[in-house]
Amino acid sequence: MRKAVLVTGASSGVGLALCKRLLEEDHELHLCLACRNRSKAEAVRAALLASRPLAEVSIVQVDVSDLQSVFRASRELKQRFQRLDYVYLNAGIMPNPQLNIKALFSGLFSRKVIHMFSTAEGLLTQEDKITADGLQEVFETNVFGHFILIQELAPLLCHSDSPSQLIWTSSRNARKSNFCLEDIQHSRGQEPYSSSKYAVDLLSVAVNRNFNSRGLYSSVVCPGTMVTNMTCGILPPFVWTLLMPIIWLLRFFANAFTLTPYNGTEALMDLDEDTAEKFYQSLLELEKHVRATIQKRNHQS
Ligand SMILES: NC(=O)c1ccc[n+]([C@@H]2O[C@H](COP(=O)([O-])OP(=O)(O)OC[C@H]3O[C@@H](n4cnc5c(N)ncnc54)[C@H](OP(=O)(O)O)[C@@H]3O)[C@@H](O)[C@H]2O)c1
Repeated sequence: MRKAVLVTGASSGVGLALCKRLLEEDHELHLCLACRNRSKAEAVRAALLASRPLAEVSIVQVDVSDLQSVFRASRELKQRFQRLDYVYLNAGIMPNPQLNIKALFSGLFSRKVIHMFSTAEGLLTQEDKITADGLQEVFETNVFGHFILIQELAPLLCHSDSPSQLIWTSSRNARKSNFCLEDIQHSRGQEPYSSSKYAVDLLSVAVNRNFNSRGLYSSVVCPGTMVTNMTCGILPPFVWTLLMPIIWLLRFFANAFTLTPYNGTEALMDLDEDTAEKFYQSLLELEKHVRATIQKRNHQS
């Protein structure tokens, strides 16, 4: 049976590169592009099918910052699919990012320079706004809309005989210090993106606790720092081009600079369930062997 994979935010950046790579690995996949903009999704679908004609590529229109849209898309998906094997929860925003120039210059001459560049800690603030649902936009897009999506799709995801996987695109910018249980939407702070990515990390742990027994597993992955529409909101593309030689040098010290969306998908692709299961079986074998050796040694002495 064809594997069914849903990718949110498939219209650009990491999501788009991921779709290409998924089809390179399995030509017969049923890939469903979950995008808010139908015409962009149609163009992506046509491009993917041009290089992989055997694949089945469909579209579901969903705006994860609009709960009505999430409910409608979930209903549509439940009519179309019996199950979803993988769901990549990747759509995300970092609206109106402001670079803290003072922090940048003081960081440049400190021992934390590599850490600062690879995590953007203390470098970025954003201007958030309220959505039509009355929620903070960054929280709703990056976290809550996806949470509702998986709650609604539970019947397609929870099969204890053959597990499904959720893979979240998180970020090194996720900071516990920016997240607060009393203000989970980060309505009072200036780093909603960092808070939302920490919330994603927490949510993944909670999903594992609450859904593993029902056959649903969740992981978070940081794709590294790449030049995409999102990062071009922080600095214009020509500045990224000028910075490229420096970033290439920094790559010797911090592999977080993945530079291109294609490289950024590496970690998302690496979470292979079969390899994980084989690895687990090897560990069990090794454990058996080590226990037997210890027992033998104890018996002899
Ligand atoms: N770029 C980096 O260096 C970096 C680093 C760490 C983590 N990430 C994470 O990687 C993920 C992908 O980002 P990217 O860098 O590939 O940026 P991108 O090119 O801007 O892609 C973002 C994707 O999310 C979609 N999206 C945004 N808001 C949406 C909404 N309300 N409903 C549905 N889809 C929505 C966008 O759709 P449209 O095309 O319609 O706008 C686009 O497909 C994000 O979760 C981001 O936080 C990126």
